[in-house]
Amino acid sequence: METVFDLAGLHRVVNQWKREGASIAFVPTMGNLHKGHFSLLERATELADKTVVSIFVNPIQFGKGEDYESYPSTLEKDSAGLADNNLDLLFAPDLKQLYPGGVDTDTRVFVPELSNILCGRFRPEHFSGVATVVTKLLINTQPDFALFGEKDFQQLLVIKRAVSDLCMPIEIVGMPVIREEDGLAMSSRNAYLNMTERKQAPLIYQLLQSAAQRLRHSPDQIPAIEAEGMKALETNGFRPEYFSVRRTDDLAEPKAQDLRLSILTAAWLGSARLIDNVKVLIDS
Ligand code: PAJ
Repeated sequence: METVFDLAGLHRVVNQWKREGASIAFVPTMGNLHKGHFSLLERATELADKTVVSIFVNPIQFGKGEDYESYPSTLEKDSAGLADNNLDLLFAPDLKQLYPGGVDTDTRVFVPELSNILCGRFRPEHFSGVATVVTKLLINTQPDFALFGEKDFQQLLVIKRAVSDLCMPIEIVGMPVIREEDGLAMSSRNAYLNMTERKQAPLIYQLLQSAAQRLRHSPDQIPAIEAEGMKALETNGFRPEYFSVRRTDDLAEPKAQDLRLSILTAAWLGSARLIDNVKVLIDS
């Protein structure tokens, strides 16, 4: 595994691969890697001849008062894990590389509609921050495939849409949520949970699953399913932002004839903001 810290190094390696005719699969991350990230890398190695992972904590996707300053940084450990998992190239740039003019004067990529709903209602700048940095990373890495987890389902759709609207010749691959044994979706932010909260946290997934079961049998009861999800989270010590049934394909509010649905939620538990989602297929 090679590691590069600047764009020139990235270009040098990628250009060499392109000359050799190698295909490239890319996994952008913010580091503090866990099995969820490694599942993307594993698929990347199956899809393409060469794999690139980036580690960059992107300031412009964090709101004021969010955890940018305290986001866990574990580059040495991550680097060892990546080398053990057949990665070809780690790109770990500093702020100057990706924001040469500073973060405030920076050009933005914004995907309307999808960016303002669900998580976007509570984190107004978040998805333009994500779309902007992912666009920069894709332009410079020039992959054939880029892989993203369905744990961040709204992010995946925002990126798919940006890539399609900007005519980038890149296949965006969505990958299933990797969970702890008790069902909690793996996330770097789970480290913010204390022991009591950690025991409580899997309830999010249990509530999503029971809501999914109810939705399958009673797709006409969406408002009640959403309201009861919110109430159950509140009663159990969470501070929920939303618990919503949406169309899987575009996260719009479902109509009676829609069969591919998802239930998505975001809730605070202590100082951790947890998100999760499940898909539901309604029988036609
Ligand atoms: P990060 O949270 O580090 O996640 C990197 C990738 O790993 C994302 O595609 C995310 O969806 C995926 N991932 C995280 N936890 C997962 C899990 N439990 N199962 C499956 N996949 C999981 O998401 C970001 O970084 C950033 O927003 C980024 C896209 C890198 C832009 O800055």
